[in-house]
Amino acid sequence: MRIVLVGPPGAGKGTQAAYLAENLSIPHISTGDLFRANMSQGTDLGKQARAYIDAGQLVPDEVTIGMAKDRMGQSDAVNGFLLDGFPRNVGQAEALDVILKDEGVKLDAVLDLEVPEDEVVKRIAGRRVCRRDSAHVFHLSYSPPKTEGVCDVCGGELYQRHDDSEETVRTRLEVYHTQTEPIIDYYRAQGLVVTISALGEVADVTARAMEALKQSTEG
Ligand code: AP5
Ligand code: MG
Repeated sequence: MRIVLVGPPGAGKGTQAAYLAENLSIPHISTGDLFRANMSQGTDLGKQARAYIDAGQLVPDEVTIGMAKDRMGQSDAVNGFLLDGFPRNVGQAEALDVILKDEGVKLDAVLDLEVPEDEVVKRIAGRRVCRRDSAHVFHLSYSPPKTEGVCDVCGGELYQRHDDSEETVRTRLEVYHTQTEPIIDYYRAQGLVVTISALGEVADVTARAMEALKQSTEG
């Protein structure tokens, strides 16, 4: 299966992607996590991306599309993938269509996570991520780690993402509404969009997502 996950910052894309990717036996590809890994390793790509990410703006398409294409071209993604945070504007969606067409494959669904803005703000304010791997995500009240400040998965140190400051979150939400939301209409025109509420317990949202994907891909 080839799935795109879309939703505002803090909607729970990364959290859900971990479970959905495992259930569907496909890799979870998060462009945000790829950028953060590059930033922590100090690569040129990470250096190019940092200023944009810290300001809550999108990293330019020239950088992002190539990075996503490389990752989708790796051997574990031959039979499918779950894209989290890509595409993030209509230009990237068009570029993805070209990449898939060249491979003779298609998207199966675009899963749209709906969460009210006040909940998103609470989720981001309490989020802590692992320094070793930002895909390991916790929340101070909703899903606290067993030991304060320590990742349950790998023992890494937990920290607050630099772009999770109140001011940057405001910019990210605005960028989401102006640049990313239009991809929902783009994909709706292709009949691919499945919208679910991402409110409630993490496991309930995963079950809702699995059911919605099953119905949309069977129907
Ligand atoms: P990215 O890392 O993709 O950030 P984002 O889209 O803003 O989304 P987040 O990771 O903040 O939220 P999420 O939806 O994954 O929520 P999470 O699961 O962590 O991108 C960062 C930056 O990179 C961008 O701003 C941009 O600069 C750049 N970038 C990335 N991709 C790009 C692209 N394609 N083009 C250009 N630039 C790009 O959950 C949030 C919190 O809520 C957690 O603490 C979690 O524990 C908690 N939570 C989750 N689910 C629940 C629940 N059901 N109940 C209670 N709490 C919950
Ligand atoms: Mg994320």
